[in-house]
Amino acid sequence: MDLHNKTILVVGGATGIGQATALLCAERGADVIVADFNAAEGKATAEEANGVFIPVDVTDEASVKAMADSIASSHGKLDALVQTAGILKGAYVALEDFELATLRQVLDVNTVGSFLCAKYAKPLLQKGEKPAIILISSPAAYGVSSSYAYAVSKGGVSALGTTMAGKLAPEGIRVNVLFPGGINTFMKRSVIEEDAVRKGQDPQAAVEAAQSSGLGEPEGVAKVLAFLVSDEADYVRGSVNTR
Ligand code: NAI
Repeated sequence: MDLHNKTILVVGGATGIGQATALLCAERGADVIVADFNAAEGKATAEEANGVFIPVDVTDEASVKAMADSIASSHGKLDALVQTAGILKGAYVALEDFELATLRQVLDVNTVGSFLCAKYAKPLLQKGEKPAIILISSPAAYGVSSSYAYAVSKGGVSALGTTMAGKLAPEGIRVNVLFPGGINTFMKRSVIEEDAVRKGQDPQAAVEAAQSSGLGEPEGVAKVLAFLVSDEADYVRGSVNTR
Protein backbone atom coordinates (compact mmCIF):
# COMPACT_ATOMS: atom_id res chain seq x y z
CA MET A 1 0.00 0.00 0.00
CA ASP A 2 1.84 3.04 -1.23
CA LEU A 3 1.13 6.22 0.74
CA HIS A 4 3.60 8.53 -1.02
CA ASN A 5 2.07 11.96 -1.72
CA LYS A 6 -0.42 11.43 1.11
CA THR A 7 -0.55 13.91 3.97
CA ILE A 8 -2.12 12.12 6.92
CA LEU A 9 -3.20 13.65 10.22
CA VAL A 10 -3.30 11.19 13.12
CA VAL A 11 -5.06 12.78 16.08
CA GLY A 12 -4.26 10.87 19.28
CA GLY A 13 -1.05 9.69 17.65
CA ALA A 14 1.14 9.89 20.78
CA THR A 15 0.44 6.35 21.98
CA GLY A 16 -1.41 3.12 21.24
CA ILE A 17 -3.35 2.61 18.01
CA GLY A 18 -2.69 6.18 16.81
CA GLN A 19 1.04 5.88 17.37
CA ALA A 20 1.27 2.55 15.52
CA THR A 21 -0.77 4.04 12.67
CA ALA A 22 1.41 7.15 12.38
CA LEU A 23 4.56 5.01 12.24
CA LEU A 24 3.18 2.56 9.68
CA CYS A 25 1.82 5.33 7.42
CA ALA A 26 5.24 7.01 7.54
CA GLU A 27 6.95 3.72 6.69
CA ARG A 28 4.71 3.50 3.63
CA GLY A 29 5.74 6.94 2.43
CA ALA A 30 3.14 9.30 3.90
CA ASP A 31 3.83 12.75 5.24
CA VAL A 32 2.53 12.29 8.79
CA ILE A 33 1.23 14.88 11.23
CA VAL A 34 0.84 13.70 14.82
CA ALA A 35 -1.55 15.69 17.03
CA ASP A 36 -2.15 14.95 20.69
CA PHE A 37 -2.28 16.61 24.09
CA ASN A 38 0.50 14.30 25.28
CA ALA A 39 3.34 16.44 23.99
CA ALA A 40 6.26 14.29 25.17
CA GLU A 41 5.13 11.07 23.49
CA GLY A 42 3.51 12.93 20.60
CA LYS A 43 6.79 14.62 19.70
CA ALA A 44 8.66 11.32 19.99
CA THR A 45 6.21 9.60 17.63
CA ALA A 46 6.35 12.48 15.16
CA GLU A 47 10.14 12.41 15.20
CA GLU A 48 10.22 8.66 14.58
CA ALA A 49 7.74 9.16 11.72
CA ASN A 50 9.84 11.99 10.26
CA GLY A 51 6.75 14.12 10.62
CA VAL A 52 5.59 17.07 12.65
CA PHE A 53 3.86 17.27 16.02
CA ILE A 54 1.02 19.66 16.78
CA PRO A 55 -0.29 19.94 20.34
CA VAL A 56 -4.07 19.73 20.50
CA ASP A 57 -6.83 19.24 23.03
CA VAL A 58 -9.69 17.81 20.99
CA THR A 59 -12.27 19.01 23.52
CA ASP A 60 -11.33 22.63 22.90
CA GLU A 61 -12.65 24.17 19.66
CA ALA A 62 -10.01 26.91 19.58
CA SER A 63 -7.25 24.32 19.95
CA VAL A 64 -8.65 22.14 17.12
CA LYS A 65 -9.04 25.20 14.89
CA ALA A 66 -5.44 26.23 15.66
CA MET A 67 -4.30 22.71 14.67
CA ALA A 68 -6.09 23.04 11.32
CA ASP A 69 -4.73 26.55 10.76
CA SER A 70 -1.22 25.30 11.43
CA ILE A 71 -1.64 22.45 8.89
CA ALA A 72 -3.07 24.92 6.35
CA SER A 73 0.13 26.98 6.64
CA SER A 74 2.59 24.10 6.73
CA HIS A 75 1.03 21.53 4.35
CA GLY A 76 -1.88 23.30 2.63
CA LYS A 77 -3.98 20.11 2.44
CA LEU A 78 -4.85 16.79 4.02
CA ASP A 79 -5.52 13.47 2.29
CA ALA A 80 -6.72 11.72 5.43
CA LEU A 81 -7.78 12.35 9.01
CA VAL A 82 -7.49 9.44 11.42
CA GLN A 83 -9.12 10.47 14.70
CA THR A 84 -7.96 8.09 17.43
CA ALA A 85 -7.93 10.39 20.48
CA GLY A 86 -10.09 8.82 23.15
CA ILE A 87 -10.49 8.10 26.85
CA LEU A 88 -12.36 5.54 28.93
CA LYS A 89 -13.58 6.62 32.38
CA GLY A 90 -16.19 5.24 34.75
CA ALA A 91 -15.51 1.54 34.14
CA TYR A 92 -17.65 -0.69 36.39
CA VAL A 93 -19.39 2.27 38.09
CA ALA A 94 -23.07 1.52 38.76
CA LEU A 95 -25.68 3.70 37.05
CA GLU A 96 -26.88 5.21 40.33
CA ASP A 97 -23.33 6.22 41.23
CA PHE A 98 -22.28 7.42 37.78
CA GLU A 99 -21.14 11.05 37.90
CA LEU A 100 -22.58 13.33 35.23
CA ALA A 101 -19.18 15.04 35.06
CA THR A 102 -17.59 11.74 34.02
CA LEU A 103 -20.20 11.24 31.30
CA ARG A 104 -19.57 14.75 29.99
CA GLN A 105 -15.79 14.37 30.12
CA VAL A 106 -15.83 11.17 28.06
CA LEU A 107 -18.37 12.55 25.58
CA ASP A 108 -16.24 15.66 25.21
CA VAL A 109 -13.10 13.79 24.22
CA ASN A 110 -14.51 10.89 22.22
CA THR A 111 -17.58 12.36 20.53
CA VAL A 112 -17.22 16.15 20.56
CA GLY A 113 -13.51 15.67 19.79
CA SER A 114 -14.33 13.56 16.72
CA PHE A 115 -16.87 16.16 15.57
CA LEU A 116 -14.44 19.07 15.97
CA CYS A 117 -11.55 17.29 14.24
CA ALA A 118 -13.76 16.37 11.27
CA LYS A 119 -15.26 19.87 11.11
CA TYR A 120 -11.90 21.64 10.93
CA ALA A 121 -10.17 19.00 8.79
CA LYS A 122 -12.85 19.13 6.10
CA PRO A 123 -11.63 22.25 4.22
CA LEU A 124 -8.11 20.76 4.15
CA LEU A 125 -9.42 17.39 2.97
CA GLN A 126 -11.27 19.13 0.14
CA LYS A 127 -7.84 20.11 -1.18
CA GLY A 128 -6.55 16.51 -0.94
CA GLU A 129 -6.60 13.52 -3.30
CA LYS A 130 -9.30 10.88 -2.67
CA PRO A 131 -9.66 12.18 0.89
CA ALA A 132 -10.83 10.04 3.78
CA ILE A 133 -11.91 10.52 7.39
CA ILE A 134 -11.57 7.52 9.68
CA LEU A 135 -13.19 7.66 13.13
CA ILE A 136 -12.67 5.07 15.85
CA SER A 137 -15.74 3.66 17.55
CA SER A 138 -15.81 0.46 19.60
CA PRO A 139 -17.98 -2.60 20.21
CA ALA A 140 -18.95 -0.57 23.31
CA ALA A 141 -21.34 1.23 20.95
CA TYR A 142 -23.31 -2.03 20.70
CA GLY A 143 -23.71 -2.28 24.44
CA VAL A 144 -20.60 -4.31 25.32
CA SER A 145 -18.90 -1.86 27.65
CA SER A 146 -17.59 -1.53 31.18
CA SER A 147 -18.62 2.15 31.21
CA TYR A 148 -21.91 3.93 30.52
CA ALA A 149 -20.03 7.02 29.40
CA TYR A 150 -17.73 5.16 27.03
CA ALA A 151 -20.66 3.26 25.48
CA VAL A 152 -22.67 6.44 24.90
CA SER A 153 -19.65 8.28 23.50
CA LYS A 154 -18.79 5.53 21.03
CA GLY A 155 -22.42 5.22 19.94
CA GLY A 156 -22.17 8.93 19.15
CA VAL A 157 -18.95 8.45 17.18
CA SER A 158 -20.57 5.71 15.17
CA ALA A 159 -23.64 7.86 14.40
CA LEU A 160 -21.45 10.84 13.55
CA GLY A 161 -19.39 8.72 11.15
CA THR A 162 -22.33 7.17 9.34
CA THR A 163 -24.06 10.56 9.05
CA MET A 164 -20.90 12.19 7.68
CA ALA A 165 -20.40 9.26 5.29
CA GLY A 166 -23.71 10.01 3.59
CA LYS A 167 -23.37 13.80 3.64
CA LEU A 168 -19.72 14.02 2.55
CA ALA A 169 -19.76 11.32 -0.16
CA PRO A 170 -21.21 13.73 -2.77
CA GLU A 171 -18.33 16.08 -1.90
CA GLY A 172 -15.78 13.33 -2.59
CA ILE A 173 -14.83 12.61 1.02
CA ARG A 174 -15.04 8.96 2.11
CA VAL A 175 -15.85 8.37 5.79
CA ASN A 176 -15.34 5.04 7.53
CA VAL A 177 -15.80 4.05 11.15
CA LEU A 178 -13.44 1.48 12.63
CA PHE A 179 -14.45 -0.87 15.46
CA PRO A 180 -11.30 -2.38 17.03
CA GLY A 181 -11.62 -5.35 19.39
CA GLY A 182 -9.62 -5.56 22.64
CA ILE A 183 -6.21 -4.04 21.90
CA ASN A 184 -3.11 -4.01 24.10
CA THR A 185 -2.79 -0.26 24.80
CA PHE A 186 -2.54 1.99 27.84
CA MET A 187 -6.33 2.48 27.80
CA LYS A 188 -7.17 -1.23 27.68
CA ARG A 189 -4.55 -2.25 30.23
CA SER A 190 -5.85 0.42 32.66
CA VAL A 191 -9.38 -1.04 32.50
CA ILE A 192 -8.10 -4.60 32.98
CA GLU A 193 -6.07 -3.45 35.98
CA GLU A 194 -9.04 -1.57 37.48
CA ASP A 195 -11.23 -4.64 37.10
CA ALA A 196 -8.62 -6.84 38.79
CA VAL A 197 -8.22 -4.44 41.72
CA ARG A 198 -12.02 -4.32 42.07
CA LYS A 199 -12.07 -8.13 42.29
CA GLY A 200 -9.11 -8.25 44.71
CA GLN A 201 -6.85 -9.83 42.07
CA ASP A 202 -3.31 -9.03 40.98
CA PRO A 203 -3.59 -6.36 38.25
CA GLN A 204 -0.32 -7.31 36.56
CA ALA A 205 -1.34 -10.96 36.37
CA ALA A 206 -4.71 -9.93 34.91
CA VAL A 207 -3.02 -7.92 32.15
CA GLU A 208 -0.66 -10.81 31.38
CA ALA A 209 -3.60 -13.25 31.24
CA ALA A 210 -5.45 -10.96 28.81
CA GLN A 211 -2.33 -10.56 26.69
CA SER A 212 -1.90 -14.30 26.37
CA SER A 213 -5.58 -14.94 25.68
CA GLY A 214 -6.13 -12.93 22.55
CA LEU A 215 -5.70 -9.21 23.20
CA GLY A 216 -4.71 -7.72 19.84
CA GLU A 217 -1.73 -5.46 19.24
CA PRO A 218 -1.99 -1.83 18.05
CA GLU A 219 0.22 -2.68 15.04
CA GLY A 220 -2.49 -5.04 13.77
CA VAL A 221 -5.12 -2.28 13.83
CA ALA A 222 -2.61 0.10 12.25
CA LYS A 223 -2.40 -2.19 9.21
CA VAL A 224 -6.15 -1.82 8.72
CA LEU A 225 -6.01 1.95 9.19
CA ALA A 226 -3.06 2.31 6.79
CA PHE A 227 -5.19 0.44 4.23
CA LEU A 228 -8.25 2.61 4.92
CA VAL A 229 -6.35 5.85 4.25
CA SER A 230 -4.94 4.47 0.98
CA ASP A 231 -6.48 4.83 -2.47
CA GLU A 232 -6.95 1.04 -2.52
CA ALA A 233 -9.70 1.48 0.08
CA ASP A 234 -11.68 3.59 -2.36
CA TYR A 235 -14.61 1.17 -2.46
CA VAL A 236 -14.87 0.57 1.30
CA ARG A 237 -18.15 1.85 2.69
CA GLY A 238 -19.46 2.14 6.24
CA SER A 239 -17.93 0.38 9.21
CA VAL A 240 -14.99 -1.99 9.53
CA ASN A 241 -14.37 -4.37 12.43
CA THR A 242 -10.97 -5.63 13.53
CA ARG A 243 -9.74 -8.26 15.94
P1 NAI B 1 -4.35 5.23 24.14
O1 NAI B 1 -4.72 5.72 25.48
O2 NAI B 1 -3.01 4.61 23.94
O3 NAI B 1 -4.49 6.41 23.03
C1 NAI B 1 -5.38 7.48 23.15
C2 NAI B 1 -4.66 8.75 22.72
O4 NAI B 1 -5.60 9.84 22.78
C3 NAI B 1 -3.49 9.13 23.65
O5 NAI B 1 -2.33 9.43 22.89
C4 NAI B 1 -3.99 10.36 24.39
O6 NAI B 1 -2.96 11.25 24.77
C5 NAI B 1 -4.93 10.96 23.34
N1 NAI B 1 -5.91 11.88 23.92
C6 NAI B 1 -6.75 11.64 24.97
N2 NAI B 1 -7.47 12.75 25.24
C7 NAI B 1 -7.10 13.70 24.34
C8 NAI B 1 -7.49 15.04 24.12
N3 NAI B 1 -8.41 15.64 24.88
N4 NAI B 1 -6.91 15.72 23.11
C9 NAI B 1 -5.94 15.14 22.34
N5 NAI B 1 -5.54 13.86 22.51
C10 NAI B 1 -6.10 13.16 23.50
O7 NAI B 1 -5.50 4.21 23.75
P2 NAI B 1 -5.87 3.42 22.41
O8 NAI B 1 -6.40 2.13 22.84
O9 NAI B 1 -4.78 3.47 21.42
O10 NAI B 1 -7.11 4.28 21.87
C11 NAI B 1 -7.21 4.77 20.55
C12 NAI B 1 -8.69 4.77 20.15
O11 NAI B 1 -9.13 3.42 19.99
C13 NAI B 1 -9.61 5.39 21.20
O12 NAI B 1 -10.60 6.16 20.55
C14 NAI B 1 -10.25 4.18 21.86
O13 NAI B 1 -11.50 4.49 22.40
C15 NAI B 1 -10.35 3.25 20.68
N6 NAI B 1 -10.52 1.84 21.00
C16 NAI B 1 -9.56 1.17 21.74
C17 NAI B 1 -9.73 -0.17 22.03
C18 NAI B 1 -8.74 -0.94 22.81
O14 NAI B 1 -9.02 -2.08 23.20
N7 NAI B 1 -7.57 -0.39 23.10
C19 NAI B 1 -10.92 -0.92 21.56
C20 NAI B 1 -11.85 -0.12 20.80
C21 NAI B 1 -11.64 1.20 20.54
